[in-house]
Amino acid sequence: MTRPNDDAVSQPRELAITGPRPLHGRLRVPGDKGISHRALLFAAIARGTSHITGLAPGDDVERTRRALVALGVEVGDAPDTSNASGGPVGVTVTGNGFDALRAPDGVIDCGNSGTTMRMLVGLLSGRPFVSELTGDVSLRRRPMARVIDPLRTMGAVIDGADGGRLAPLIVHGHPLHGAPMVLATASGQVKTALVLAALQAEGVSEIIEPATSRDHTERLLAALGAPIEVASPTTLRVTPGEPRAFDLAVPGDPSSAAFFVVAALITPGSDIVLEGVSLNPGRLEFVEILRTMGADIEVQPGGEQLGEPFGDLRVRASALVGTSFSPQEGIIDEVPALAVAAAFAAGITEIRDAPELRVKESDRIATVAQELTELGARVEARPDGLVVHGGTLRPGIFKSHGDHRVAMAAAVAANALAGESHVRGWQSVAVSYPAFGDDLAALAAASA
Ligand code: S3P
Repeated sequence: MTRPNDDAVSQPRELAITGPRPLHGRLRVPGDKGISHRALLFAAIARGTSHITGLAPGDDVERTRRALVALGVEVGDAPDTSNASGGPVGVTVTGNGFDALRAPDGVIDCGNSGTTMRMLVGLLSGRPFVSELTGDVSLRRRPMARVIDPLRTMGAVIDGADGGRLAPLIVHGHPLHGAPMVLATASGQVKTALVLAALQAEGVSEIIEPATSRDHTERLLAALGAPIEVASPTTLRVTPGEPRAFDLAVPGDPSSAAFFVVAALITPGSDIVLEGVSLNPGRLEFVEILRTMGADIEVQPGGEQLGEPFGDLRVRASALVGTSFSPQEGIIDEVPALAVAAAFAAGITEIRDAPELRVKESDRIATVAQELTELGARVEARPDGLVVHGGTLRPGIFKSHGDHRVAMAAAVAANALAGESHVRGWQSVAVSYPAFGDDLAALAAASA
């Protein structure tokens, strides 16, 4: 089977696009990254064999898969589901409960994946062995106290750089006790880490967030019979237990779909359908924001699997106008795409109350502002957001800043503009969507 990392190796360092290229046709975007990480982790602690197809193809999820193999979990290729160009990827995972996890032989390298690192810290903090987690330069700068502090209230012993606030992290696994935990930051990753710890702790744990965050963990675990109770939209109660083994076809990633949605909206003459995308309500607020801006997007429900709804998105090119919004945690990853939509809209768009943008794979307030400026838009970078003045735009030489979502946002802008643009540092798309450039070109070719 061709592994996602093989794609990373063959990824060009620069993508050239000559636009405008109207988009037509149908596309199945890769599986949801957040659901893919969770499916692998939950299958690893279930007893029995799970079959997962449509797994996200990028390096991030590959890091979680490799970490589980290093922990002694049996992960095999599901037949007929590999696809070298970033299409559906399938695995079988044979788990045997928490107790089957073994000490890894070496350091677990989480690469660029904050989700891998944060979720693993929760899983490993209750296991009876020591493990060490590290990552690339970007990940070693990202905040870890948000997950380590609440884990410590459950008795976890974790060391790390800067007093345990930054990776590399050393997890001295050891029995945990349930605890009430009031989180400072709403985060689907942190919540999942705490749930993975709480499922192996003695007693009851309560996780209270300041606002709602992505709820894939609660949906999947409840569907798999794990003892997790949603006491309120921001409160989870968890007692010890394990999920059952399962079969899952991971729905398409709305965060990847968002780039094609914006590409079709801003490129005149476009009309596309994105198939089998997760329609989890917490992930779809970007559709509402774009509709407020005048976007023509139809949502066509298709079904539901293990508590996760999915369906198609039909998008036609639309004249957009500026708006003002505060991206809730569930759609923070869509901001680079929404910022491009704002640059192509008439008037001003204000993105507020989003300081989290500063601690993603790059400082996305600074990096998005810089690339939109290269595009010819006037942009104000604020401590917690961006003000984008839509205007006369031009092709340019854009940079990814090592951030996959900044790279894809630049490609989407380039696709809509008359003339030749270049996106430098293109290889960063390998972390979530290795075939993005090919899929965009295929929709453009369908118009020809
Ligand atoms: C994720 C939650 C978000 C998101 C990340 C994936 C998840 O991060 O930005 O890409 O899978 O739960 P935070 O929960 O840390 O804000």
